[in-house]
Amino acid sequence: MTDGDLGYVESFGPGLGFAPARAWQALGSARLSLNGTWKFRYRESLRDLTAGFEATGFDDSGFDDIEVPSCWQLAGVPGPTRYGAPAYTNVTYPFPVDPPRVPDRNPTGEYRRRFTLPPGWDRGGSTLVRFDGVDSCFAVFVNGTAVGHSTGSRLMREFDITRHVRPENNVIAVRVHQWSAGSYLEDQDMWWLSGIFRGVTLINEPAGLVRDFFVHADYDADRGAGTLRVDTGRPAALSVPDLGITGAAAGTEYRVAAEPWSDEHPRLYDAVLTGPGGEIGFRVGFRRIEVRDGQIRLNGHAIQFRGVNRHEWHPVTGRSLDEATMRADVVLMKQHNINAVRTSHYPPDPRFLDLCDEYGLLVIDECDLETHGFALAGWRANPSDDPRWLPACLDRIERTVERDKNHPSVIMWSLGNEAGTGRNLEQMAGWIRARDPGRLIHYEGEPDAFYTDVYSRMYADYGELDAIGRRQEPVTANPEHDEHRRRLPMMLCEYGHAMGNGPGGLAGYAELFDRHPRLHGGFIWEWIDHGIAQLTPAGEPYFGYGGDFGERVHDGNFVIDGLVFPDRSPSPGLLEAKAVFAPVGIAIDPAARSISVRNRQHAAGLHAYRFGWTVEDGGVPVAAGDLEVPNGLPGAVTTTGFPAALVDAAAAAPDDERWLTVTASLATGTAWAAAGHEIAFAQARLGGSAAAPPPAKPAAPAASGELTLGCAVLDRDTGELRRLGPFGVHSAFPDFWRAPTDNDVRVAGAWRQAGLDRLERKILSVRHEPDALCTRLRIAPAGDDFGFLATLTWTADGRLSLYVAPSGTWPGPLPKIGLRLVLDAVVEEVSWFGRGPGEAYRDTYHATRVGRFTTPVDGLATPYVRPQENGNRLHARNLTLTAAAGQHLTVTADPHVDFAVRRWSPELLTAARHTPDLVPDGRTHLHLDAAHQGIGSASCGPPLPPGHRLAAHTVAYALGFSA
Ligand code: GAL
Repeated sequence: MTDGDLGYVESFGPGLGFAPARAWQALGSARLSLNGTWKFRYRESLRDLTAGFEATGFDDSGFDDIEVPSCWQLAGVPGPTRYGAPAYTNVTYPFPVDPPRVPDRNPTGEYRRRFTLPPGWDRGGSTLVRFDGVDSCFAVFVNGTAVGHSTGSRLMREFDITRHVRPENNVIAVRVHQWSAGSYLEDQDMWWLSGIFRGVTLINEPAGLVRDFFVHADYDADRGAGTLRVDTGRPAALSVPDLGITGAAAGTEYRVAAEPWSDEHPRLYDAVLTGPGGEIGFRVGFRRIEVRDGQIRLNGHAIQFRGVNRHEWHPVTGRSLDEATMRADVVLMKQHNINAVRTSHYPPDPRFLDLCDEYGLLVIDECDLETHGFALAGWRANPSDDPRWLPACLDRIERTVERDKNHPSVIMWSLGNEAGTGRNLEQMAGWIRARDPGRLIHYEGEPDAFYTDVYSRMYADYGELDAIGRRQEPVTANPEHDEHRRRLPMMLCEYGHAMGNGPGGLAGYAELFDRHPRLHGGFIWEWIDHGIAQLTPAGEPYFGYGGDFGERVHDGNFVIDGLVFPDRSPSPGLLEAKAVFAPVGIAIDPAARSISVRNRQHAAGLHAYRFGWTVEDGGVPVAAGDLEVPNGLPGAVTTTGFPAALVDAAAAAPDDERWLTVTASLATGTAWAAAGHEIAFAQARLGGSAAAPPPAKPAAPAASGELTLGCAVLDRDTGELRRLGPFGVHSAFPDFWRAPTDNDVRVAGAWRQAGLDRLERKILSVRHEPDALCTRLRIAPAGDDFGFLATLTWTADGRLSLYVAPSGTWPGPLPKIGLRLVLDAVVEEVSWFGRGPGEAYRDTYHATRVGRFTTPVDGLATPYVRPQENGNRLHARNLTLTAAAGQHLTVTADPHVDFAVRRWSPELLTAARHTPDLVPDGRTHLHLDAAHQGIGSASCGPPLPPGHRLAAHTVAYALGFSA
């Protein structure tokens, strides 16, 4: 093998020898999947390749077996990897920035497979081999002859191999290189993985078959009718039975009485093209996407993106997804009120777009182009502005648009992500305008937005968004572009960075999106944690992240930033998003005895939903019924009085806190959820107050030197707590630390600097009063003069009053202010009345409701892939901890307390790197907190808004204990 033969690896161009780009649906009737087991040999370097491996007669019996599609670095996962290892970087290229050169150490996979043409294969037509995704560069050989080579990992590539195939005994050989010049264009924030990772198909095209087609299915909302034209390039007959079109000439425009397609009502029509060479079936959705009057409109209606960024990910197979996984994503999105997806940052597996058409998701289809790593080199030689890369850039956008152009769900093309600025991007936009004027163009990286149709930003804070909403943003860098950009509608292509615990503050964004017509919502970053399934030596499963695979350059757990965990179980962030994205907004006015429902959809009425109400006293249902809500137009608010049964229920004297919950759920089943699936709820307190705690039983007689106050036993001299009801107490003191979340990144350093994780305690005084014990203590970090003064007063009714005040000047916000109780006991279950059932913080509580909940202690923890603060329950009025043998302790708060119950300390939680590090210590760590710092999304987004910060301030609260 000489360098000359491998010159394509470092070529600026997109490749050679392939067929022109076309729609993915354009497929002849005869197909042969080449997915399955291939022979495979892994080579570390280009100097180490197997000479003649492509020859038909080559003896590959020494090769391994590998599955196609797959990512070779993940072979063996969750066990040891067999071929190299995955590597994660965000911005940094894991090789020197020296385009188009890549390192000599360039892992290469040699793939071989035999095939026989199926009977009936039309030998008069052509035979093509289609690759749906090969990372990052490959050369194809058929029966020993080189047929072409290609870059552009996430794009479809076809080679015409008619001349090279015979009926039997064919060998296809593919050489895939991990690194190529193309890698410079694929610096997305994700794992570097290689191989034939999407499907391979052999296609037989009878002569005369339509090669490609372009569906133009417009919907005119003013006329309430559609038009259909299918461009085919050669004569073909079009049939759309449901529209009464049979055997009509494709290429002619037809006016049709079609229903429109939308995310809310994804109406599709089956269609067939018939030509001399056979039939091609596809589906048509009629819709118009446009910018009109400064707004993004779908079928005439202004839309709001309640979207997510979706990378393709599976914890075992990486970027190779099967259809069931894709469908699971789409169903989960629909169930959580998500209406839009940005295919960050490359065109997805084409089958995903079929599902978006079918289930109703608006798609921003993004080109496979990111050159972010050039930012670290001052954007010198950025491919986006270097004419030598123009053919590759154009090839990428062309293959994106051509492959996906017939999907109604695709409403916008995105030129790529974080590729800087430059002429090549402008030319890509120009190419789209000429080819597909029916869709909008997006690119966030050009701040002046002069060649795009939307003004897009990422991670803007509330203030900036509000200014843009009012069209008061600062002028563009080039003032000539200002007028254009100021007219554009605006969206956030990324916001709400869902790394670890979070994102917080989504509701503040939703409020701005609803307030300003110029703002069209956005896309949360991101859908899924890219964790890789791993096992400890003892066989305990966990998820790995950057740095776990021996990478010398990596970005740690920055790749763990999704709304779902790697196994696709929803994280609390997804539930929060669901609440904030709800298609109806319910508001209860208890004084006026009325309920308002705002239709937050863009086209549909309210008939898809059934409304119901429940009244609960202390979390126990006492009455329930249905609610008739008049149909409200999009944007409209309809108000209804309480139904008679609800008026009665509200009037009865409550024994406890009385809450009304109103829900909206699906009236009938859909493709993505059964009838009854809840899509929105609201609550209001109707009165009453929390029931008195059970009477305190006196504690067991105290030993000498101890004092009993209610169910608390204290040390007479030190004032320290020794027992609470049935449970021994290891320690009890005010605490201010939480294991920093990923979103605490901007403040955690200051917290450590201030010594919040290593506070010292000093008892200042212990005062005995009749029936009370009062301890004063100072809690402060070593090496500084600020701290807290705390007074803990226990009284005979088992009540603890806490008074905690800062002393000196605290340098910044605190993680929390609370009480940390460590019980020498193992508690199994917690039951509480307050917000639940899930985790919540002051800016992430919209998915929780006030009620009574019971959960095993293990169920209170949220298993963030990198352990961190989690599991807080907000605003509990009371909680009961129960041990396996039934012993229990009840805590009451007035008016409420935040709590967490864990089997490990905050110190362990802080130090843990992976979930198996969280080893229970045989105690119960009970946190009873007065206040928390919010969560936010500062791991990539803006700092926490001031309203969600926790300043050092004086806190006074009381807790009742009974057993
Ligand atoms: C954005 C980028 C994403 C991801 C995110 C942080 O800037 O477009 O790809 O890196 O930040 O998780």
